[in-house]
Amino acid sequence: MRRGVVGRLICGRDGLGRTMPDNACKGYRPVITDSHPATFAARLSVAPMMDWTDRHCRFFHRLLTRRTRLYTEMVTTGALLHGDVPRHLDFNEQEHPIALQLGGSEPGDLAQAARLAQQWGYDEINLNCGCPSPRVQRGAFGACLMAEPATVADGVKAMRDAVSLPVTVKHRIGLDRCESYDFVRDFVGWVSQAGCDTFIVHARNAWLQGLSPKENREIPPLRYEWVYRLKRDFPALTVVLNGGVSDEVQIHAHLQQLDGVMVGRQAYHQPAWLASWDGEFFGDPARELEIDAIEEAMVIYMEQQAARGVAWAAVARHILGLRNGQPGARRWRQVWSDHRLKALSPAQVHQRARQALQSMAA
Ligand SMILES: Cc1cc2nc3c(=O)[nH]c(=O)nc-3n(C[C@H](O)[C@H](O)[C@H](O)COP(=O)(O)O)c2cc1C
Repeated sequence: MRRGVVGRLICGRDGLGRTMPDNACKGYRPVITDSHPATFAARLSVAPMMDWTDRHCRFFHRLLTRRTRLYTEMVTTGALLHGDVPRHLDFNEQEHPIALQLGGSEPGDLAQAARLAQQWGYDEINLNCGCPSPRVQRGAFGACLMAEPATVADGVKAMRDAVSLPVTVKHRIGLDRCESYDFVRDFVGWVSQAGCDTFIVHARNAWLQGLSPKENREIPPLRYEWVYRLKRDFPALTVVLNGGVSDEVQIHAHLQQLDGVMVGRQAYHQPAWLASWDGEFFGDPARELEIDAIEEAMVIYMEQQAARGVAWAAVARHILGLRNGQPGARRWRQVWSDHRLKALSPAQVHQRARQALQSMAA
C-alpha cells in the first residue's frame, strides 16, 4: 500500500473565527425544514457497528424511530463479491432509510459492490475510512485510507459512476499522533472533488499502532472544534459529527454548527432514547414510548425469524437495554439473555420475562 501521500491544499481558508458560545444549546429548538432533503436526511443517524447493527438490531431501532438513518455493519467488498450476497445485504423493508457501509479500496470492487447495493434497494453507500483494526489495516482499507486521499477519491468516483445512490464517507480527523487540522481538511477537500458531498467525521484520530479498536474509540481525544471547522471551510458539504455523543443537549449543540449527528454506543445501550428523536429532532408530533408494545412487536418478529431458523437469542440480544432504569429490568434482562431457555419459543420466553419484571416490580 502506498503511504503518506497526503493531499494537496485545496481549501485555502484557515477557518478561524467563530467559536461555539457556552451553553449555546440551552432552550434551543431547531427550525426543522425539509427544504434540503439531503441535509435533512443526515440530521440524525445510528452509527455502523460491527456485530451490533445487524438487520435484527435495525428492525428494533426502526420501531423506536421512523426518521433516523440507520447504517449496516461494515461489509467488505471481498465478502460481498466472493461470498453469500443475500446474507450480507438482505434487510427488512421497514428499515428504510438505510445505508450500506462498505469496506474496501479497489475502485472496480467498490463499483461492483455499489451496484449490488443499489439492486438490493439501499438508500446510501458509505465508505469506511475510520476503522483502525489490524485485520482491516492488513486489507489496506478503513482508517489507513486517510493517508491515501487519491485512492479514496478514485473509489468514490467509481461508485458514483456506477450508481445513482448518494456515496458518503465516514472517517477520522487524523492518523496516529498527527496533530494537524490540515490533514483532515485536505482529505475532505480531495475526496469532495470526486463528488462526495457528505462526510461523517468521527472526531478523534485513529492510532494505527498500539491500541485495540475499542481503545481507539476511547483514548484518542475528541476534537469537535475540528469538525465545526470543516463545516466552516466547506459550507456546501454536508458534515455529520460522530463520537462521544450521549444526550439530546449535545445533539442540539452540534446541530447548531453542523448538518447532522451520528450516535453509536449510547443509542445501542440506551435504545429507549431513540423513541424521542423523531419528535425532538425531526419535528414530528411527540410519541409516548410504549415499551410493552415495542417488546411485543419484537416477540412477533422473533417468532417470524424463528420460522426461518434464526434463534430468538440472536434477536433478543439487541433489546436488552430497552428497560434500563425500570424496576425489575435486571431480572427481565437475565431472562432474555438466558441461553438455557433456547428450546422455548419467543412467546414463552416473553411470558417468563414479564413474570420476572412483575415479581421484581411488585
Ligand atoms: C461494537 C462496535 C463496532 C463498530 N463497528 C464499526 C463499523 O463496522 N464501521 C464503522 O465505521 N464504525 C464502527 N464502529 C465505530 C462507530 O461507528 C462510531 O464511530 C464510534 O463508536 C464512535 O461513536 P459513539 O461514541 O457514538 O459510539 C464500531 C463501534 C462499536 C462500539
